[in-house]
Amino acid sequence: MKRHEFLRELHKVTANRTYLEIGVNDGRSLRLSRVPSIAVDPAFKVTSEIRCDVHLVKATSDDFFARPDPLAHLRGGRNPLRNLARGRHPLGHWRRTTLDLSFIDGMHLFEYALRDFVNVERHSDWASVIVLDDMLPRSVDEAARDRHTTAWTGDVYKITEILERHRPDLVTVLVDTQPTGQLLVFGANPRNTVLHEKYEEIVAEYDVPDPQKVPETVLDRVRTVDPQALLDAGFWRPLVRARNRGLNRSRGWEPLRGALQQALLSR
Ligand SMILES: C[S@@+](CC[C@H](N)C(=O)[O-])C[C@H]1O[C@@H](n2cnc3c(N)ncnc32)[C@H](O)[C@@H]1O
Repeated sequence: MKRHEFLRELHKVTANRTYLEIGVNDGRSLRLSRVPSIAVDPAFKVTSEIRCDVHLVKATSDDFFARPDPLAHLRGGRNPLRNLARGRHPLGHWRRTTLDLSFIDGMHLFEYALRDFVNVERHSDWASVIVLDDMLPRSVDEAARDRHTTAWTGDVYKITEILERHRPDLVTVLVDTQPTGQLLVFGANPRNTVLHEKYEEIVAEYDVPDPQKVPETVLDRVRTVDPQALLDAGFWRPLVRARNRGLNRSRGWEPLRGALQQALLSR
């Protein structure tokens, strides 16, 4: 399954109410959104037809997250009637906004993707789904930090290992999409500060000169999940139901974590 096809289906199974995209380019992934969205890219040239209420931000993701209220657009304005007309909560301005679905596809160096993940997680919750693109490079050349190929993943594949080592509380799923795979992250915890605290240490360890030592398991796509099998898994409905009922982390995440792990084990 191609990455945009998978993303289109993810919008459906997550029934997301909000969407954040980092890295827009010509809008081919943004055009899949139908909900209030924010899309960030310092150099987008949107040529696709966009069919959602989107705030397009011409900035780097770091500058975007440094704003005092980056998700203001998703909460709508102070006008309750206008919010209602736009399908938002009438008193949205005063509510905390959570990102239901985020797609991280900006700068393809691991330290940028790591910062993007940390910032996205701050605005996410246990029922959020965070997707990182280009996590399965097909060759060492494609994974180089210093780009010298047309198709380029860079070394963002390192994020999978970084999350597994430093954030075992999250559930990470490598998905075998074409051409270069995606990572889904479940169980976000906006209060967890481990990655922020260890950022310098992690960068010092993983920032190594080319050629990158891409693990065979990554190149051979050994620990990956079939995209269709993941989309067909039984945990999506309970996730959406619990999220929409507003269950808190302790009541919502633990049962879901179990269902998720079972679905992954039985694949
Ligand atoms: C691979 S393209 C995005 C493709 C798009 N998501 C899609 O699937 O159709 C990567 C984009 O990230 C943008 N980008 C580069 N550095 C960035 C940064 N620091 N913050 C946000 N976006 C960045 C580039 O301008 C480029 O348009």
